[in-house]
Amino acid sequence: MTQDEQKRLAAEAALEALRPALGAGVVLGIGTGSTTNCFIDALAPLKDQFDGAVASSVASATRLEGHGIRVLSLQESGPLTLYIDGADEADPNLALIKGGGAALTQEKIVASAAETFYCLVDESKCVDTLGAFPLPIEYIELAEAPLRRALSALGAEATRRPGVITDNGHPILDVRGLDLSDPAAQEQALNQWPGVVCNGLFALRRADQLFVASPRGVTVKTAPR
Ligand code: 5RP
Repeated sequence: MTQDEQKRLAAEAALEALRPALGAGVVLGIGTGSTTNCFIDALAPLKDQFDGAVASSVASATRLEGHGIRVLSLQESGPLTLYIDGADEADPNLALIKGGGAALTQEKIVASAAETFYCLVDESKCVDTLGAFPLPIEYIELAEAPLRRALSALGAEATRRPGVITDNGHPILDVRGLDLSDPAAQEQALNQWPGVVCNGLFALRRADQLFVASPRGVTVKTAPR
């Protein structure tokens, strides 16, 4: 089974899990990426069973609208029932690295407005400790040199993502070699650095349920308390 087929499987499992929660007044938060695209496509036939969606990127908003799903802002929606998104890595506590698709800032905002976060991955993304995938940091251009120096002082190596400017108009550094053994502490620490818009650690607001697809089927993991 290909990775794309596994992504579709995870999307279908998440859709079945959320189906009973659909109804009038329900607005879903929608992430970004190829796994989320599978979810959007699977959701389309149910578009009359909920009020609409808040998208975490222009790309997801365009795909939702292409299916006739109403796209709302967070101001219009109020709190969201559920946020659904993929990830680049997930650890056993359901802390994540996200931002491979450059939408980390809006993803973190929309996830934080949701009661529950379903994360969809194929098994290749499950790791014991986060960090094999480089950590994305969205930042204000002016801060690039001091940020590079600060990262280098921690023994980390930062590469500016070529040709990428986020929907918010900012560049991204992909960072290898940071200590991510306590992802929540590192997420908090990086948030304090001047010029950091957002980092791709999702530990302070981790996933609540992780749908892991493999050729053997889909396993659902729940975040430990
Ligand atoms: C986008 C993300 C994506 O969720 C992450 O990169 C996974 O993408 P894909 O589902 O295409 O593997 O964080 O910013």
